[in-house]
Amino acid sequence: MITLVVLISGRGSNMEAILAAAQTGYLRGAKPELVISDNADAAGLKIAKQKFGVPTRILPNNESRGWDYDSQIANLLDRHTISSSSVLICLAGFMKILSRQFVEKYKMRILNIHPSLLPSFPGLHAQKQALDYGVKVSGCTVHLVDEAIDSGPILFQKAVRVLNSDTVESLSARILKWEHILYPYAIKRFTEGKIRIHEHGVLS
Ligand code: GRF
Repeated sequence: MITLVVLISGRGSNMEAILAAAQTGYLRGAKPELVISDNADAAGLKIAKQKFGVPTRILPNNESRGWDYDSQIANLLDRHTISSSSVLICLAGFMKILSRQFVEKYKMRILNIHPSLLPSFPGLHAQKQALDYGVKVSGCTVHLVDEAIDSGPILFQKAVRVLNSDTVESLSARILKWEHILYPYAIKRFTEGKIRIHEHGVLS
């Protein structure tokens, strides 16, 4: 059984999709144990607790950075006896960049979702970047996390069309709908042991 830990900073709609997938049995072999937020006001905290009964913890995003901060996450997992060999850490709109030490400790066990077809448009406001550039196709990417921003081996991608009439809001909404499908699917494949890392890519 794989233990899911979801890290959020805000709305938490991807987290909700993951917890819902676990609840319906789609993610057999994975059990959500903890939702952690660096923001006490994250709307997702209420959803985790009230709708799904998943315990939540807040690790405030103060001045501490890098391993100073990340070691608090690691300590929290240790206190919950969640080991690095049985956990899958899912970043779902988590706004902090994880340190090299943290990524090493949970090597190949941290996933992220990003609202573009990486390696295009990493970083903030990916949907606006795509619109500003004028691409005709964008989408979302689930990837393993390394210490760089929106980097690491790509697991799954879904392309969506960019329409001439699109605004940031309409494109974001079209992509988000697929994020909620792609992320649980990626987790399912991971927990089934169906993911094979192949240098920068993945055979799955
Ligand atoms: C999503 O678009 C995700 O791809 C990005 O941050 C956003 C988080 O949204 N990393 P939510 O909190 O999951 O609703």
